[in-house]
Amino acid sequence: MKGKFLRTIEGEKFDSPPIWMMRQAGRYLPEYREVRAKAGGFVELCLNPEMASEVTLQPIRRFDFDAAIIFSDILIVPYALGAKLWFEEGEGPRLDPVDDQQKFNRLSEALDQKITERVYAALARVRAALPTEMGLIGFCGAPWTVATYLVAGRGTEDQAPAKQLAAKQPELFQNIVDRLVDSSAQHLIGQINAGADLVQIFDTWSGALDGEAFERWCVKPVAQIAAKVREVIPDAKIIVFPKGTSLQNVAKVTEAANANVIGLDWNSDRKRAVVKFGDKYAMQGNLDPSVLVAGGKVLDQAVDDVLADFRGTRHIFNLGHGILKETPIAHVEQMIARIRKAG
Ligand code: CP3
Repeated sequence: MKGKFLRTIEGEKFDSPPIWMMRQAGRYLPEYREVRAKAGGFVELCLNPEMASEVTLQPIRRFDFDAAIIFSDILIVPYALGAKLWFEEGEGPRLDPVDDQQKFNRLSEALDQKITERVYAALARVRAALPTEMGLIGFCGAPWTVATYLVAGRGTEDQAPAKQLAAKQPELFQNIVDRLVDSSAQHLIGQINAGADLVQIFDTWSGALDGEAFERWCVKPVAQIAAKVREVIPDAKIIVFPKGTSLQNVAKVTEAANANVIGLDWNSDRKRAVVKFGDKYAMQGNLDPSVLVAGGKVLDQAVDDVLADFRGTRHIFNLGHGILKETPIAHVEQMIARIRKAG
């Protein structure tokens, strides 16, 4: 018997929807911080199947979520293409920037399997440990979002280095995106073969583009990834998460990729989304992560609003972006209890 999460994706509706949270394995959990300290570094943690599977399972054990997401990172794909990757403590990811033709030429054509096999090994371990009814999610970054880190060599406020490269040297930028399309599709196929029930494509920075650029760098590459995955696995299920953009743009990505689930960010207008998408797709979201930090009556009200707005649709309860590290565990428990009481 499949659980609520997988049944929602297949078409059922629940007044008390299935729940998971983006970044559910992470620094707000003391048991995560403990394993993270033992691993030595973030990349080391991602590439240690035993530890990565352990932290994936931690939030499931603690909160009994309806789905697990494999612990990894979107930057493992460029790393497996040969870009050096490390995390500056308290700051964020750093990569060797790929911002000219010469540096692009040094990237590998295909993923280093010695690296990706570690992700698949972690997935297989999680699959073996999870109850069979529970959903297991694999993921990758959308090419545009990964390219914003790869071109700049780090996270940026306004994604300006990638935007400028795309405008000044569209052929080079297209080569970068094409390489990410091919390798990301391979990586999603590898994850599904290792036991993922479905995959999410994170386009965190899709809001930095619009018009033609949005079509070319967000819609098309995500659609190409979906098509390549389904060439090999025809019934592959896909969640898209184009963050920070209009519902019209969200619809473009969803339709072009023929997605099964639409991830809505915390800023999305739920009522308009429900009118626009009805129950053609499952919708996932979108409690504001800051409200989860706040807790109290504000949190209760916000949970009720999310439930009420999505009632009668195929809703998967989630945050509208990743959980913040300062979030008290008691607030997560409060949120879950309230959702499970609904209906
Ligand atoms: O959701 C999950 O629990 C699965 C694991 C996951 C992580 N990153 C673990 C992580 C997923 C799905 C991601 C996706 C990811 N990684 C995105 C897209 C989604 C988003 O949140 O916007 C992006 C842009 C990245 C790149 C990345 N990884 C950044 C910018 C950072 C630093 C920011 C920060 O929060 O520190 C990371 C680090 C990271 N990835 C952490 C976790 C739990 C924290 C690192 C730590 O333990 O020190």
